[in-house]
Order: sequence, then structure tokens, then C-alpha cells
Amino acid sequence: LAQRRTVRAALAAAPDQPCCRADGTYWISGAFGGIGRHLADYLVQHGGCRSLVLISRSAPTEEQQAWLRQLVTHGVALQLLQADLDDAAAASAVLASCSAPMHGLFHLAGSLDDRPIGDIDAAQLQRVLGAKLGGAWLLHRHAARHAELEHFVLFSSLAALLESPGQFSYATANAGLQLLADQRRQQGLPATVIDWGPWDGAGMMRSLAQGKRSRALRQLAPMAPARGCATLAALLASPARHGHYAVYALAPAAAPSQALPSATASPNDAGGDLLAQLIASETGHAANALDEQATLEQLGLDSVGLIRIRSELQSQLGRSIPVALLLAGGTLAELRQRLAGLQPAAPVQAADAAPAAVTAAQRIPLSPGQFSLWYEQQRQDAGNAYQCAIGWRIDGTGLDIAALQARWDALIAAHELLRATVDGDDQETGPAYVVHAPAAAQAASAIRQQPVQDEAAALAQIADMLAAAPSLHDSFATRVTLLRAHDGTGYLVLSSNHVLMDASAMFYVGQQLAAALCSLPPSDSPGAVAQYRDFAASQRQLGADAVARAASHIAPQLLAQDGSLLRLDLPYERTASPAAAGDSVAMPIWMSAYMRPCSMRLPITACTRSGNWSSNWL
Ligand SMILES: NC(=O)c1ccc[n+]([C@@H]2O[C@H](COP(=O)([O-])OP(=O)(O)OC[C@H]3O[C@@H](n4cnc5c(N)ncnc54)[C@H](OP(=O)(O)O)[C@@H]3O)[C@@H](O)[C@H]2O)c1
Repeated sequence: LAQRRTVRAALAAAPDQPCCRADGTYWISGAFGGIGRHLADYLVQHGGCRSLVLISRSAPTEEQQAWLRQLVTHGVALQLLQADLDDAAAASAVLASCSAPMHGLFHLAGSLDDRPIGDIDAAQLQRVLGAKLGGAWLLHRHAARHAELEHFVLFSSLAALLESPGQFSYATANAGLQLLADQRRQQGLPATVIDWGPWDGAGMMRSLAQGKRSRALRQLAPMAPARGCATLAALLASPARHGHYAVYALAPAAAPSQALPSATASPNDAGGDLLAQLIASETGHAANALDEQATLEQLGLDSVGLIRIRSELQSQLGRSIPVALLLAGGTLAELRQRLAGLQPAAPVQAADAAPAAVTAAQRIPLSPGQFSLWYEQQRQDAGNAYQCAIGWRIDGTGLDIAALQARWDALIAAHELLRATVDGDDQETGPAYVVHAPAAAQAASAIRQQPVQDEAAALAQIADMLAAAPSLHDSFATRVTLLRAHDGTGYLVLSSNHVLMDASAMFYVGQQLAAALCSLPPSDSPGAVAQYRDFAASQRQLGADAVARAASHIAPQLLAQDGSLLRLDLPYERTASPAAAGDSVAMPIWMSAYMRPCSMRLPITACTRSGNWSSNWL
């Protein structure tokens, strides 16, 4: 807090302090976007900038050319670079072709493509992550050529911290910027990340309809571009410039508290009126003007809002409401009917019994990405879309099962991820995962062995396993099954709960196990594949307690501040690189695209969800 006050005081005293050197060159990506133009204008007219390199995907339109001519009248030297930052090879070549120095870099390029998580495909993810996160990575690498660099500024969004419906990919991209900046600062390199609130009339937020704005976002006011630019310039001129900040304006009527309305429900009220009030409070609509024929999504509700409403209904009505009842879709009128049809039944049930005793402090909140996957899994029609399996065929007869079990036990002991189960959703805090003691997890996760006749039988069995939907609640992150055919060939199958574990983590575990089967020692170099995204392990470093504090305090803290400039000293640090073999690190998603098969020479073949064997990749 003291530091925040210091920064504010410095800003108030020097509103228009030049942040650029007169002999410096400043690069802006996404320069023709809404904020890019404001920023370029500001740097030239108030920041003392005399030389700009503007990176843009598209060639300037006539209107943009007129703006550029106007800029030049202020005596600035301009260079234009046309590069699609999503195309790493071509963009690298364009960047390398520019001989201008780089004293400051402002990375603004990015795009929105909001959609529910169920509609996200690889192309959408690539589009949204490519320019912003992939572009940041490219610029980070390119900046290494410029020893003169003083400012490396990444434009992020509060979407990375606040709930933001439909913005899974966008929030991921912005959160990735924070990881990159952390990494740069750990290497002693300049890095400033700013999580901006909405800018007034500028850029990508302009068209975001009110109904699409989350509860938190509605408490923010659009910020005047001049104020955004001045805050940035003052920050860059201050000694505290390298760090993670949020800059936003609060809506005049915004209350710091996000309390949901409380209503005294009559004993006969099945929740109908209360439901309307809760929806109104989440969406900003008037409770008596809700369209009964609109779907909850059309009313502007997102998954987090729905879970909050369910929690509130449960506590005010004193009864358990199945999560599927709210997530089943349909109109508001249909939801009212479903609620009215509920039997006056059981009081709120405790979550499913976990394999080991769990205290409240051990419940670790799901990350936004995990929450989205969990949410999808709750929908009645989701099937096992978020449960995945993968298999390895291991040729030869000398399979060492004892070594396999020992390696599996060691992996379980080393990785909290493999000891985690998803905890119930009935608590106010929403779903969470719980990490169990190694002994409890080892006892419950023994490797299952099954004989099979031949490869055809193994494939049929694997297909069955791929189709089955393991329970989210009572299963550990990964189950391991070894099918042994009569000719000695082994088929190692991992079926994983993807709320907890992503594909690269599965590959890592599978490789470790396959190596054990072939009597290879654990790899002593972490290697690219070992650097998997392990939510639980990175959160072990953070401490469950710290994560819970972060999750529950960031949003209220943001909304209680005046927002001119808030230093985000999150109550934890991320560490960047694994210390030893088997350690895990949080890996930005885009990096996984660069993961290469490791060079072990094993007769092992991978089998994917489709059930097809792919070519040898190990
Ligand atoms: N506007 C806000 O209220 C707000 C709030 C929080 C954070 N931010 C962040 O601030 C930054 C700028 O936002 P903005 O509102 O100015 O956005 P914008 O008006 O949509 O401009 C984005 C710019 O990025 C460029 N771009 C997109 N994909 C690219 C690619 N693959 N390669 C190179 N350039 C690419 C676009 O070029 P084309 O013209 O060729 O498409 C456009 O010039 C963004 O990173 C955004 O996340 C904005």
C-alpha cells in the first residue's frame, strides 16, 4: 500500500513528464488500433518522442495515412513495418530487417474473438493467442538485440484478473503476458505489464454490449484516452516502472462491495422471485423487466454468475439445487419451472467424500481456465469431452512392472497434480481441487493390469476406455492401466481428468512411465517436454493459501481503489524454470506449440483420442 501511495504522489506531481529520450526510438505494435493511435499521438506531443517504428498487420488506409502525415508535422521520424505477428517466421524477418534502435517497445497488437468455451477451436485459440502472446514472445526475442532498451511495455487487460464471459482465450493470452514479463524481470530485463480497464471510445472494447459485460466490468467506467496515456507516461518516467499494474476508472456509482441481494423467501417460494432478483443483480437488468423467453446466456449470464446464483439460492432457500438444473440451458421461464418442480428435499449436501480428510484450507480454487472446463463438464450434454486418454504401445517382452509401479509412486510423490481430485461444487467458493497425501493417493491409484489377447483386443479395450466418462469427483487426475498381450507387447493407457491435467502433462507422465517400462532411468534433464503446464505444482510454489487469498482479494481490491494506478503486488511469486528433472513449471500455452518430441530411442508409439496409432514420436 505504501508503494502504491508513493507512485500516486509521483504521478500527481508530474502529469506530463516526458517519458521518451529525445534521441530514442520507440516501437509500437498494433499501432493503427484504437489505443495505438492515441499512444503514438501522446508520445509525440507530450512524451518527447522524436522517432517511432509502427508495426501493423495491415497497410495503412487512406484515413490512417492522413493521420500519419499529421503525426509527421510534429517533427517525428516514422518507420512502418507491416507484419502479421501471428506468422512467426515472416514477422521475425520483417523485424530483423529494421535497423532502427529500440529504446522502448509498446506491444498492443491483439484481437478479440469472444465465444463460450465449448465453441473454442484451435483456430480461434491461435487467432487470439497468436498476435498478443505469440507476438509478445517474438518481440521479446527480437528485443534481445537491443541493449539500449529501457521500456518493454505489454498491454494486458483486466480480463486476465476479473471474470469476463466468453474471454477464455483472451484472458489466457493476457495472463501469458504476465508470465513473460515475470520471466523478463527475473532475467534483469525491463518489463512493465498493465492490465487496462476499458478505454473510452477506443479500440476493441467499443463494441462490447452492456449485456456481455461481467458484473465486475460493469463497475468500471471507460477511461479517457488522455488519462490512460498520461498515467502510462508518468509510470514510465518513475523509478517504479518495471512491474505489474492495473489502470482503470471506476464507474461513479460503483460500490466496493459485490454483495448479492438478499431476499426473505417465503416457505412456498421455489426461488422464482429471488431468482429474478439475483439475475438482475448479476446482469444489470431490472428484475421486473427480464424477458422470460430469453435464455440465461442472452440475459448476459456467464458461468461464474450462474454458480454464484446457485450458491445464493441454496443458502437462502435452504435446499440443495443440482448444478445441472441451472446449466441445462433453456429460457428463464423454463428454469423457473424446473426450480418450481424441485421436491422440497434434502438440505444442502456436503461434497462427495474425498479419499483423504480435507480441511477447508487445502481446497485450492480452480484457475479461470480450469473453471471453464469444469463448467463445461457439468453440462448435461458435455459427455466426456473433457476427459482424455492416451496410450503407448511398448514392444518387447522385458517389461519391468515393479519399476513401472515404483516410477508411478515416485511421480505421484513428486507432483501434487497427480494427487489432486476435484472437490464438490456446493460450497460458496465454487469448485476447487484438493491435494492429498502421497500415501493416500498411491493407495488409491495403483496401476491396473489387464491381460489382452492381441493388439486388436487391446485397441478395442482402449476405445472403450476412451469412450468412458470417469467421474470428476472421485477420480485422481490420471489413471494408469497396463494391458499385456500374449506376445509380450504392453499397452500403457493413461486416462486423465482434463480439469486438472492438460495434454502436455499427460505426455510427460506417459513418457516417464514408458521409460520405466523399458528400464530407463528417469531423465536427468527437464527438457522441453518435461516443462509441462502443471497447475498444481506451480500452485504448490505459490501456496494454496496465497492463491485463495489472491482469488478472493484481487477483484474487491481493484474495485475499491480509485484506479488511477494500482500496483498489483500479488501475494505470490511465480518461478520460471524447473530446478531438476521432474520439476514442473507453468508453461505459457503458446510454448507447447514449440514442444518437440524428445530424442529417446524407444520402440514406443503414441495413440491419441481418435484411437489411431500415430507415427513414432519418441
Ligand atoms: N480498448 C480497450 O478498452 C482495452 C482494454 C484493455 C486492454 N486493451 C489492450 O490494448 C491493446 C490495444 O487495444 P485496442 O483497443 O487498440 O485494439 P484494436 O483497436 O483492436 O487494435 C488492435 C491492433 O492490433 C493489430 N493486430 C491484430 N492482430 C494482429 C496480428 N496478428 N499481427 C499484427 N497486428 C495485429 C490490429 O491490426 P489490424 O488493424 O490489421 O487488425 C490492430 O491495429 C490490446 O492488446 C488490448 O488487449 C484494450
